Amino acid sequence: MDTQSFIEQKIKEIKEKVGDKIAVNALSGGIDSSAVAVLGHKALGEKCRNIFLNTGMMRLNEPETIQQRFKEIGIDVEVIDVSDRFFEALKGQEDGEEKRKIFRDTFYKVLGEAVKESGAQCLLQGTIKPDVEETQAGVKTQHNILSQIGINPEEQYGFTTVEPLIDLVKYEVRELAKALGVPETRFNTMPFLGPGLTGRVIGEVTREKVEIVRKANNIVEEEIMPLKPFQCLAVLFKDKATMKGDENAQGRNYGDIIAVRCIESKDARTAEVTEISYEILKRIVKRITTEVPGVIKVVYDITPKPPSTIEYI
Ligand code: XMP
Repeated sequence: MDTQSFIEQKIKEIKEKVGDKIAVNALSGGIDSSAVAVLGHKALGEKCRNIFLNTGMMRLNEPETIQQRFKEIGIDVEVIDVSDRFFEALKGQEDGEEKRKIFRDTFYKVLGEAVKESGAQCLLQGTIKPDVEETQAGVKTQHNILSQIGINPEEQYGFTTVEPLIDLVKYEVRELAKALGVPETRFNTMPFLGPGLTGRVIGEVTREKVEIVRKANNIVEEEIMPLKPFQCLAVLFKDKATMKGDENAQGRNYGDIIAVRCIESKDARTAEVTEISYEILKRIVKRITTEVPGVIKVVYDITPKPPSTIEYI
């Protein structure tokens, strides 16, 4: 890919498609929507607004950090707290695919309202090629695919969409982001789920469970990021494990189980497990079981993709 001419071509395309209208980019903080934020800013300047919907499913301090990083490169980001809507919609839902669908529907409903309120007629989106492929293959329902899942945003939500990254795979987006001057911290981020921590809680998603997995995930990232893996993450199991409790207690005491996953990959289609030292693994176990209330057991998942996927649900 010739990055410079790709950038010029996309700026031209965005200008043509958006025209005199106002566009909105829903920034998630991931590399895809971050690249779109800079492309949109280059093409449209202040006519491209960036909103960050805080779904409540983000990683620790993510909304604040993103706002700050983009401010540093002259791009304003408005953070809107919509977390109540997501927890309410996800109440009682156990199935992974169902939760993705609910997240997606809630996301677009809330986003549609936010776009309408902002007066914009066009939504810029960071959909990339694997999102389309995996959805078409029926592997997963990615939250950010509209047309493929039969949603006409213009009819349903009143705005058109522009997807400048639709032909790119992940490593190409990284090259592009670098060339665009996306903040270094964004550029260094690993892939993160569109549905966020919804996908890192097995079973029902509650504020309490998300809080647990958010803290565990942060510890995993703090300890493993220096190794620069393709992706690392924490998952909260639905089942509980027995803990050594009060000798006099009647019956058993149970605590939460966290799985740690860390993989190496080029494009997330296949993945090998990172060979992390026992020293680091033991530190992770120690920190999670002492710093995250309620977690009693931590496991390191050493399954490659295939046969497994990277995420759990
Ligand atoms: P899997 O679990 O299918 O994941 O091996 C492959 C890559 O895609 C990410 N992923 C998602 N990203 N929305 C996203 O934006 C999703 O629903 C989703 N599911 C998986 C995953 O983190 C990995 O990098």
